[in-house]
Amino acid sequence: MNILSPEIKKYISEHSYPEDGVLYELYRETNLKIMHPRMLSGAAQGQFLQLLASLSSAHSILEIGTYTGYSAICLARGMKKDGLLHTIDIKEELFDIAAKYFKKAGLQNKITQHTGDALKIIPTLTQHFDIIFIDADKKNYPRYFDLCIGKLKPGGLLIADNVLWNGKVIENPLPTDADTQGVLNYNKKVQDCEKLENVLLPLRDGLMLARKIS
Ligand SMILES: C[S@@+](CC[C@H](N)C(=O)[O-])C[C@H]1O[C@@H](n2cnc3c(N)ncnc32)[C@H](O)[C@@H]1O
Repeated sequence: MNILSPEIKKYISEHSYPEDGVLYELYRETNLKIMHPRMLSGAAQGQFLQLLASLSSAHSILEIGTYTGYSAICLARGMKKDGLLHTIDIKEELFDIAAKYFKKAGLQNKITQHTGDALKIIPTLTQHFDIIFIDADKKNYPRYFDLCIGKLKPGGLLIADNVLWNGKVIENPLPTDADTQGVLNYNKKVQDCEKLENVLLPLRDGLMLARKIS
């Protein structure tokens, strides 16, 4: 299901702050060399993430799902100068391309890359975060919620990508469709959580933005 027409997407892109040369190069290289380039956040969502990091004066950010590093660069650019972003990806082969672009963006000292299963790495992180961005395997979104909610500072933002999952959330998915079930359970957990105030934004494939009240 296409939530937005190509014309509207074009109009949105023409009326959003443009991506710079580093992000454009990363977008190009990802499209030329890496599998599933549609996973990359892209200019409008990237700019939105940067604005969120900047508006919330974030010092500490956790990202689950680095891929080639696009969203990490955007979030890190919005962070305070002395901020630190931790980003996790299970695929070792993506480490170098992300690291290359973190360096090109001058962010190598603000971003710590972790390689491995986020379900195992998150419990080893002892700090609390101003922003947690969930953008990895959809079937585990509810588990990421459980692991992350206690690691979010009061006033912190919990953001999750692909929460409309290409429209499948309203299509009576089979119980065996683990990804769609994961997204549905995540959205319900956020909606039911008394510690959060939230809005589901129809940006790209759906972005759940939630703020921890206490
Ligand atoms: C949608 S992509 C992330 C896109 C990136 N945040 C961006 O906007 O440019 C999802 C990533 O999650 C990673 N991933 C999947 N399962 C994971 C897991 N259990 N632990 C850590 N990373 C995982 C994949 O390897 C993939 O690179």
